[in-house]
Amino acid sequence: MCGIFGIVVEREQPLGQILTEAGQRLSYRGYDSVGCATLSGNGTIDLRKDVGKVDEVATRLNFGAMSGQRGIVQLRWATFGAPSQVNAQPHLDSDGDLVGAHNGNVVNNIELRQQFIAEGMTVRSTNDGESCIHAVERYVDRGYGMVEAIRSAYQDLEGDYAFIIGRAGEKQLYAFKKGSGLVVGIADGATCVSSDLPSILPLTRRILRVQDGEIVILWADHVELRRVEDGSLIEREVEEIAESMESVRKGGYAHFMLKEIHEQPQAAAELFHLLEASRHVAPMVERMAQARHLYLIGCGTSYHACLLGSVYLARLAGRAAVPVLAPQFIAQYGSAIGEEDVGLFVSQSGETKDVLNAMEIARQHGMGVLGLVNVPGSTLMNESERYLPLACGYEISVPATKTFMNQGLAFLYLALRMGGHATDVLARLPNLLEETIATVDPQLGPAEQALADRQDMYYLGYGATYGIALEGALKLKEITYAHCEGILSTEFKHGPLSAVQEGYPIVFVVGPEDVSLLVSAINETTTRGGRAIVIGEKNPRLRANAHDMIILPQAGPLLSPLLAVVPLQLLAYRLSLARGYDPDFPRNLSKTLTVD
Ligand code: M6R
Repeated sequence: MCGIFGIVVEREQPLGQILTEAGQRLSYRGYDSVGCATLSGNGTIDLRKDVGKVDEVATRLNFGAMSGQRGIVQLRWATFGAPSQVNAQPHLDSDGDLVGAHNGNVVNNIELRQQFIAEGMTVRSTNDGESCIHAVERYVDRGYGMVEAIRSAYQDLEGDYAFIIGRAGEKQLYAFKKGSGLVVGIADGATCVSSDLPSILPLTRRILRVQDGEIVILWADHVELRRVEDGSLIEREVEEIAESMESVRKGGYAHFMLKEIHEQPQAAAELFHLLEASRHVAPMVERMAQARHLYLIGCGTSYHACLLGSVYLARLAGRAAVPVLAPQFIAQYGSAIGEEDVGLFVSQSGETKDVLNAMEIARQHGMGVLGLVNVPGSTLMNESERYLPLACGYEISVPATKTFMNQGLAFLYLALRMGGHATDVLARLPNLLEETIATVDPQLGPAEQALADRQDMYYLGYGATYGIALEGALKLKEITYAHCEGILSTEFKHGPLSAVQEGYPIVFVVGPEDVSLLVSAINETTTRGGRAIVIGEKNPRLRANAHDMIILPQAGPLLSPLLAVVPLQLLAYRLSLARGYDPDFPRNLSKTLTVD
């Protein structure tokens, strides 16, 4: 998830400082490289970019000296293609007449690059943002005007992205959008466009939101919106933004956690499209399939995704995979591992010390080291033999939410591919997540009340929902400071059942295939006075046996566990607020644990 910003002013002026500051405001999204381009009135383009942080690259490459009548800044968050100077954005076309930068993923990048090379264009990087520029160049070279060229390029570029482009010798910038966010700002004597509202607000509070399938043309004193479909003009009222900067950064949500929960459908859609087009999946699947022993290794939430992943791999591909907490991997399997084994290391940050320690041991034993990781340029991403990105963008809230969702999605995708199954079941996930968020929120009241004052409780799951119960319990512990234990439902009777007395709440996460088994477990607790809160698909037997039921959309056994985590995230969030805590930054915890 990169960040882009472009500005158009009336006449040539220093733009380096404005672009650097816009880059600083985009930096909360996370990034590995930064680039600035300015286009001056005399037709020249000044492009400076490199790997590093905004301030450091801006000083080293002297962004402050850049001037022009138009400017673009981009912060790159690498998915595929190493963080490098050449892959950093913006990019030039073959002749250096066009310059542009994107946010998002162009999923047919590899095919497009081959076409561009065959057509004689100069392709300099492996970054998909460069494909956007050549896709426009292709039609400009055929004599199309910019808007017509963009309309045609839009048809060629598959994926979710937004793109800003400028042409030497003109006065305007262009931007277009398919999937990723894009917003226009209208100031006095200047217009700007960005992936992020917060990068615009210090310049102006008058904005226009661009929709998918729209092109925006920016001059210093006005903007024009046109439909990609037929080039026709669109009328849209300018909005005045009254909210505070902080609230805008949170996308209008009260906390980053809530924002990130709501981002799950979009993040899932983007990852699914990325995986469908990825050439990294097949070799990764092959490596995992051929391993003597396959270990899925992570900590905290990432470990819970490994639990779910191990169920998917066994069910769909007949592949046994051992989910293991990273430090326990060393303690338990350190003397049993060898060159024929493979470890899939799972981490949002890619910097968790426990995970990196385990990776180092695996490497010392000659094991294959694969990664599933969100943060580009992280140690896990750089040092694994092969990785898949989680493509969630920056997760600011300490409790992991959208990264868990995409870890689960990635595991399901790998398992489907390894088992030779179609992957289209996953195409339903984004809409089902939307529906889940919308429908479970109003159902949470009774569960919230039942758990409000409790200092200890249990979350129970079975099979695929075992990892989900553990994940829900971790969310609750992390941000309410209450004790909550997630365990296998069948284990409850082996000890914890003794805790149950009148009104004691137990949350059951029930997969559609496990209703009979879980109904027994529910009754073991309710007959002793326990209060059963059940999360599952609509089912009369569950309804009849539960005190409170949170109904999930009908999604079937593969997707239902992923949906089930959503009410648990929301419940933890609400209970945290009810107790007066800040769910984004729980006490004693940090987002990335780089210590032993
Ligand atoms: O960055 P990682 O995925 O390696 O982090 C592992 C855990 O520290 C992390 O998942 C932690 O449990 C979360 N804050 C839970 O929400």
